[in-house]
Amino acid sequence: MTLVLANVSRSFGGVRAVDDATFAVESGEVHGLIGPNGAGKTTLLNLISGLIPPTGGTIELEGRRIDRLPPYRIAALGVARTYQNIRLFGGLSAADNVVVGRHLKRRAAPFWRRLLMLPSARREEVRAREAAEAGLARVGMRERARSQAYGLSYGEQRRVEIARALAAEPKLVLLDEPTAGMNPNEAAAVARLVREVAGEGRAVLLIEHNVRLVMEVCDRITVLNFGKVIARGTPAEVANDPAVIAAYLGDGA
Ligand SMILES: Nc1ncnc2c1ncn2[C@@H]1O[C@H](COP(=O)(O)OP(=O)(O)OP(=O)(O)O)[C@@H](O)[C@H]1O
Ligand SMILES: [Mg+2]
Repeated sequence: MTLVLANVSRSFGGVRAVDDATFAVESGEVHGLIGPNGAGKTTLLNLISGLIPPTGGTIELEGRRIDRLPPYRIAALGVARTYQNIRLFGGLSAADNVVVGRHLKRRAAPFWRRLLMLPSARREEVRAREAAEAGLARVGMRERARSQAYGLSYGEQRRVEIARALAAEPKLVLLDEPTAGMNPNEAAAVARLVREVAGEGRAVLLIEHNVRLVMEVCDRITVLNFGKVIARGTPAEVANDPAVIAAYLGDGA
């Protein structure tokens, strides 16, 4: 699996939120996407997952253009994500939220089959529930599977979102600040999980403000500033790049 962005741009009115971005993400790779607030990181994820179309450039997944496809088609091709502003169904249990993620990939049994509760539909329900519980166990949430999402702590809600994204068995996972609001133990567990997910041959595109975590977990990093890619490379290369240092010190690049 390769995700290739070529000269991707997205403007909002006069703001060039993403400006001529070119980079690629490969299977088995944890690719960091970093940059100051407002650099265009979330907009890039929204472009890749199809929530908004680019105003210029192309996005290809495994050689196929996806930049004009609606989000559900992109999800069905194996792209899953989490949101910077958590998007769980608050009234549903943690497990049910994860079941929803699985259905984004696999079509649920047709309505009439579920209505009649035919054995095949019932078996799929049981399998989905078992998979959801296994997914929650993986993010350390086994005990909370039946808790309603709105009653969970911020860090727990983020973990449910990660489990939901992984439930789709994606080829590419987009994580938008997955450790925001987490304590250091939770964040370290997410870092381990991200490496594990890449070890399964999935590609991970990780937006993260925790610089130490980014440096530890990423194979390569792309740095955005004012929508433009200002640096790319290994964590060590990026950390020593004068343009990156300048961007983070706030005097522009
Ligand atoms: N829907 C929108 N309408 C108008 N402007 C937008 C919209 N979405 C993003 N922007 C603008 O695009 C720019 C990039 O925003 P974006 O949210 O992608 O940044 P970010 O790198 O994710 O920042 P942060 O680290 O704060 O999450 C900002 O100037 C933002 O105000
Ligand atoms: Mg953002």
